[in-house]
Amino acid sequence: MRRYRCGVTEGVRSSSDAGVVGIGTDLVDVDRFRTVLQRRPSVADRLFTPHERTYAERAADPAARLAARFAAKEAALKALGYGLGGMRMAEIEVVRDDDGRPELVLHGAARSTAATHGVSRWLVSLSHTDHLAQATVVALGK
Ligand SMILES: CC(C)(COP(=O)(O)OP(=O)(O)OC[C@H]1O[C@@H](n2cnc3c(N)ncnc32)[C@H](O)[C@@H]1OP(=O)(O)O)[C@@H](O)C(=O)NCCC(=O)NCCS
Repeated sequence: MRRYRCGVTEGVRSSSDAGVVGIGTDLVDVDRFRTVLQRRPSVADRLFTPHERTYAERAADPAARLAARFAAKEAALKALGYGLGGMRMAEIEVVRDDDGRPELVLHGAARSTAATHGVSRWLVSLSHTDHLAQATVVALGK
């Protein structure tokens, strides 16, 4: 049986000497999000990177994975005290490590904005069902 690195993750362990800049959480109704994506497919282009969409589309129903990633982007905005429109959503990207663990990577102006708040890295955790998607994000400083 495969063993995983459970419990304290590398990110959490090394955060003991890092300041918490902010925390954000968000909950998304997957059914409503799926309806929005079906009615306006261009929304997905605006919100997600090609990599995020490709990964989501490997699932039978991509909506839950996309909703969880949308929740992560909103949670990141909350962590920095911004609302919708505070950063370009596609510049806040959820990537995965070799174990499938999500990580947050910022690009472009979003990356610069986070740096001005003293954020050097992020912790992110996702969960989703067919109906609800949730994300928790912690912004860490140096
Ligand atoms: C992590 C895991 C238990 C979550 O399964 P689940 O409860 O069915 O699903 P949830 O909706 O709550 O979570 C799914 C999300 O967990 C995250 N995730 C996946 N593997 C992860 C890992 N190793 N560590 C942290 N998060 C992980 C992903 O963001 C995933 O979302 P995605 O499929 O859209 O990428 C499952 O993916 C798993 O068994 N992975 C294998 C690694 C493992 O066992 N890790 C636990 C160690 S304590």
